[in-house]
Amino acid sequence: MEKNFPFQKALVTGGAGFIGSHLVEKLVKMGVETVSVDDYFAGKHENLAHLKSYDNFQEEKCDITDLPALTKLFQGVDVVFHQAASKKTICINNPRRDLEINAGGTFNLLELSRDTGVKKFVHASTGSVYGEAQYFPQDEKHPLDPTSYYGVSKLAGEKYARAFSHLYDLDTTMLRYFHIYGPRQESSDVGGVVSIFARRFLHGQPITIFGDGTQERSFTYVEDVVQANIAAATTEGTKGQVYNCASGIKVTINELAQLVAQQLDIAEPEIQYGDWLPGDIKVFDIDNSKIKRDLKMNFLTDFEAGLKYTIDWSRDYFLNQKAANS
Ligand SMILES: NC(=O)c1ccc[n+]([C@@H]2O[C@H](COP(=O)([O-])OP(=O)(O)OC[C@H]3O[C@@H](n4cnc5c(N)ncnc54)[C@H](O)[C@@H]3O)[C@@H](O)[C@H]2O)c1
Repeated sequence: MEKNFPFQKALVTGGAGFIGSHLVEKLVKMGVETVSVDDYFAGKHENLAHLKSYDNFQEEKCDITDLPALTKLFQGVDVVFHQAASKKTICINNPRRDLEINAGGTFNLLELSRDTGVKKFVHASTGSVYGEAQYFPQDEKHPLDPTSYYGVSKLAGEKYARAFSHLYDLDTTMLRYFHIYGPRQESSDVGGVVSIFARRFLHGQPITIFGDGTQERSFTYVEDVVQANIAAATTEGTKGQVYNCASGIKVTINELAQLVAQQLDIAEPEIQYGDWLPGDIKVFDIDNSKIKRDLKMNFLTDFEAGLKYTIDWSRDYFLNQKAANS
């Protein structure tokens, strides 16, 4: 077991998803007994297939809204990393289900954590809890006025986690993520923009930028998010605290398109421009000084390196897919 990780058994919800699978991998390789919990609505078995041979890895199919099934998985767990959440598509098509998962599922996990003596609960939240920016850079004290069902249900989950710290002394820490990218991110048209651009260019297709491409995104590499989760779990004095988990890197969508094309050696990328998406946010300027100070987070992956890892992975993934289908 890695030094300075004081927990024996971790439970990671959303463990077969994009971020969750990287966290599971890190914990398993650290020697921590790790249970991945996922209902496979968006998660994929292939994201965890490479961990099957590890004795300290357990993969469970379970819906976090199913309390009796979830209860059985908590035996001996001393740290929970809660990454499961409904996709934004569910939020639009079925907001009631979005509420059940992001608020109700989180509540189930918190109750079980309290009742079984879990020592630490790290909660994945989102920058969507802020709603429209009222000032820059946005720090953790920025007003919370989410404008989507997803933002509201994620805010409820975050507030429940904080309330459990106040009411029951459960040690919870909340990390608000922004534009995470890296290998294994969903690349269908509802996925992450880096993965979508990589997939389309790799398939010889044009990309579409909605708006004029001057909108900025604050990209953070997935390994840095994993590191932030470990730091949140292991740093004293973070009970009830909320952190912006963002690297501070700012890239416009036009710049991103050019960088992805460059890495794929495409001299003249085909870029189409569409209408602005309703409610699209033009500027992201996130204050990450609190997480840097308290959790000693340095966000070590620079954007070019992170992009290279992601594109190399995408290239292999699509080549393998092509080979499997031929
Ligand atoms: N990727 C980002 O840029 C980003 C930004 C902000 C916040 N987040 C948060 O990070 C977390 C992880 O997101 P991700 O990008 O890895 O998404 P993802 O969709 O790849 O992972 C979420 C996982 O949760 C699982 N899940 C959904 N509903 C479930 C349920 N009822 N029971 C059990 N499992 C369920 C899905 O099957 C999926 O594997 C989420 O909490 C999300 O809100 C992500």
